[in-house]
Amino acid sequence: MNIVLFGFMGTGKTSVGKKLAEQLGWTFADMDEVIQQREGRSIREIFAQDGEPRFRKLEKEVAAELALGEHQVISTGGGVVLDPENIRCLQSCGLCVCLQADEATILKRVEKMKDRPLLEGGEKAERIRALLHQRQPLYDTIPVQIDTTAHTLEDMVQIIAGMIMRKMCAK
Ligand code: S3P
Repeated sequence: MNIVLFGFMGTGKTSVGKKLAEQLGWTFADMDEVIQQREGRSIREIFAQDGEPRFRKLEKEVAAELALGEHQVISTGGGVVLDPENIRCLQSCGLCVCLQADEATILKRVEKMKDRPLLEGGEKAERIRALLHQRQPLYDTIPVQIDTTAHTLEDMVQIIAGMIMRKMCAK
């Protein structure tokens, strides 16, 4: 059993995931971190040197590997949903939760973020809108949805921790 957090950039996957893992005593695995450590370079460098397709290939390998583990909270990259095989394989390994936020909230949160190559080189708000337009139907396929603008971080951790406890007790 694992918990897999999906959602667009800036929806809080890393913050929620870290706290959740701490509370459960599980391992926290951030897919982007795993990719960066493995490659010995940043996400920006991977995109700039090898292009997005190479990044997506690395992302897919990491998703498949992490799906074999146990007792992990996995924070996925926002684009992991673009490949249906990623969704299938991550869904087979545990409770999948999608964190949602509206465009304005996402914009505010990503302003401070570095190393998000897909939001560079143009108007950030436009990029966010276009990417959300493409991806929202994919995020909506994830069985559990949480509106991150309606809950505090602590609430979200308790909600998800409660869900996984019930799921494990029912097994
Ligand atoms: C991406 C999201 C990023 C990272 C990469 C691509 C995306 O992760 O994987 O920059 O396609 O939405 P976060 O969602 O953790 O920011």
